[in-house]
Amino acid sequence: FDFDLVVRDGTVVTSFDCFSADIGVKDGVITAIGRNLRRGREELSAEHQLVIPGGLDPHCHIEEVAESGSVQEETFETGSKAALAGGTTSLICFKPQWRGHSIKSSAPDYLERASRALADYSFHQIITDPSPEVLDQEIPTLLALGVRSLKVFLTYDPLRLSDGQFISVLSKAKQLGMMVTVHCENYDAIEWLQNALLAAGKTAPVYHAWARPVVVEREAAHRAISLAELVGQPIQVFHVSAGAVADEIERARKRGSKVWGETCMHYLTHTIADLEKPHFEGAKVVCSPALRDEGEADRLWAAISRGTLNVISSDHCGFSFAKAKRDPGSSAYGQGTALLNDDGTPAFNSIPNGVPGIETRMTVLFNEAVTKGRLDLPAFVRLTSTNAAHLFGLKGRKGDIIPGADADLVIWDPTREKTINVSDMHQAIDYTPWEGYSAKGWPTTTIRRGEVVVRDNQILAKAGTGKLLPRA
Ligand code: URP
Ligand code: ZN
Ligand code: ZN
Repeated sequence: FDFDLVVRDGTVVTSFDCFSADIGVKDGVITAIGRNLRRGREELSAEHQLVIPGGLDPHCHIEEVAESGSVQEETFETGSKAALAGGTTSLICFKPQWRGHSIKSSAPDYLERASRALADYSFHQIITDPSPEVLDQEIPTLLALGVRSLKVFLTYDPLRLSDGQFISVLSKAKQLGMMVTVHCENYDAIEWLQNALLAAGKTAPVYHAWARPVVVEREAAHRAISLAELVGQPIQVFHVSAGAVADEIERARKRGSKVWGETCMHYLTHTIADLEKPHFEGAKVVCSPALRDEGEADRLWAAISRGTLNVISSDHCGFSFAKAKRDPGSSAYGQGTALLNDDGTPAFNSIPNGVPGIETRMTVLFNEAVTKGRLDLPAFVRLTSTNAAHLFGLKGRKGDIIPGADADLVIWDPTREKTINVSDMHQAIDYTPWEGYSAKGWPTTTIRRGEVVVRDNQILAKAGTGKLLPRA
């Protein structure tokens, strides 16, 4: 046989084109794209379906271990099963640093945990404590692990950096040629608003958004961009939730700054009204930055069309609803001391921040962007995989259908309609914000490095078959 696998007669969607072709795979790599390819040992028909690159989700919080020993429920095994089932074959997750600890002594079993993944994976290294030892000795050794990006937070109690610390991280990254990703919110502004709300007895989930209005994010994005400009270091602004924040990025790009913007699926489909749901249901969509008013999503779509926001990630962050209800303040992603309401539910500032979306990201975006006619197919591919691959050192290996790239392919049925239901899903988290959402366009087969790993929502791969990705 000339090929180990041939995916035949599909409409191939690359980052810049669509055409009908066969794809030939040998040793896990795409070796031919063309008509009437010779036979493969294994043959798959993609007739009447699309063939797209496997998704790259560059922002997922999986199995992060806190200094207290508490671990996020989504494990590398469950999280990557969920990813593969949803058409995502590569993940960039977050390697923790605990404040007051070296990188090495923070979550020392993290790489071992990650080795259970079924999807290919890499990390952003979180920096919470840029001591001279961390900056000068530990960060340079990350390059050998293929870790070429750092993550910093400008808010959250246990994670936030001062401007001075942020500058020291930017400057080290510049010296080493790493990317820096930034969570932009003004800690002190949130603290001021939050204290006023709590003092007035405003504790329901929706006040989480009141405590973090757009200006809090816009100010921090502007500051992060300005400090990055000062140092001359490229950054990616994480999870942009509002048009005014995208505008800051756009202005900086027009000045010639190397600034990129990411948004996440939930900012395009959910609003502050979802936080107002009764019976603590609003807690399911507590995330930072917060959900915004109706109309904000249109500004995000406009920024996506202009290319200002060029990556759509999940920011998958796992806390089951059942757990969040009775276990306040157990997450690093929160601010202030844990307070309880009379019924035992946590006040808004003690609800762990984050929403699960790793499994639904591709189908919800396909429905919103392609089925509804907002974007064309190559744009969908760029937003779900190619652009992140370019930004994070995986160009040529991940994120596109080109000869020499890993054969991460998804056979995608653009006409299939199905309603999202958490009971069909593989994630460990017990709910999805898209419960009952009807999407047109679903993955039918997921192929990772030439191997069929999901067929009709059934996981065929074994735990531990994902590979740690070296990044250029
Ligand atoms: O609310 C969020 N986004 N939780 C996950 C952690 C982060 O800030 O990205
Ligand atoms: Zn964040
Ligand atoms: Zn995040």
